[in-house]
Amino acid sequence: MNVLPPSIAELSDDDLLDLYTAGAAVPWLRVNFVATLDGSASAAGVSGSLGGPDDLRVFDLLRRVADVVLVAAGTVRDEGYGPMVLHDADVTWRRAHGMPDHPVFAIVSRSVSLDPASRVFTEAPVRPVVLTSAAAAASDAGVALASVADVVPCSTGADPDSVDVAGVRGALVGRGLGRIHCEGGPSFLGALIAADLVDELTLTIDPTLEGGAGPRIARGSSPELRRMRPAHVLRGAGDVLLTRYVRASGSRPGRGGIG
Ligand SMILES: NC(=O)c1ccc[n+]([C@@H]2O[C@H](COP(=O)([O-])OP(=O)(O)OC[C@H]3O[C@@H](n4cnc5c(N)ncnc54)[C@H](OP(=O)(O)O)[C@@H]3O)[C@@H](O)[C@H]2O)c1
Repeated sequence: MNVLPPSIAELSDDDLLDLYTAGAAVPWLRVNFVATLDGSASAAGVSGSLGGPDDLRVFDLLRRVADVVLVAAGTVRDEGYGPMVLHDADVTWRRAHGMPDHPVFAIVSRSVSLDPASRVFTEAPVRPVVLTSAAAAASDAGVALASVADVVPCSTGADPDSVDVAGVRGALVGRGLGRIHCEGGPSFLGALIAADLVDELTLTIDPTLEGGAGPRIARGSSPELRRMRPAHVLRGAGDVLLTRYVRASGSRPGRGGIG
């Protein structure tokens, strides 16, 4: 009896896209992470050494089908993000499917501590979006950023310093960017979980033990457990497991999509 999941090597890109988009409604908020066996979201401060080639393959395919790639500012800074430019094969696929060449790059930041001269902005193929508080949007840094990005205030009415994550999602959906692909990081995922906004988690499990100093994939405080159910598990090179979990049936009555 083979008790291991099927190998990703047997699947074409189209097979994988079918698996990763099955049942997804629009709007839909997917979050993608990699973690070690003992639950660390990073090794030596970054996640780049985790996951391997098949994690990267899925990472790129998930960007391919996204309207917007949503990343919190800490991850943009720590992981040294550049402009959101997809590979030629992804652009070709998107054109064939009536999508713009590249997804919008959306960055969430409370402080707007983002350099307008960064390549994230200066070499962006599509004008990025920065989602922040009303107060930060009106600050000198927010106004400076508005020369290179759409700076969108997402505060709740009462508090101009707040960034409301439901407002972040709503602002993107309101721009026609309903297929939201979030690449982290942990603080932002904690806020999404607390607000019950995670429709899907694609988690790569890297078969390593980090030892305890690294962060979990989510940090924060949620009022309750959010129940998910497995949609698939695949095995990749280096014995990584590529998992897809979606919101469990009935956990949010009235929503479309997988149920
Ligand atoms: N394993 C993985 O798949 C994975 C994925 C992503 C990141 N990581 C790792 O995670 C670490 C970074 O962790 P982190 O918790 O600092 O990441 P993070 O959530 O990306 O960044 C935190 C920063 O993002 C902004 N932010 C986050 N949530 C916000 C909210 N609700 N409202 C407004 N702004 C918000 C704030 O930016 P401002 O400071 O600009 O206000 C905050 O300081 C790095 O080591 C990185 O490698 C791992």
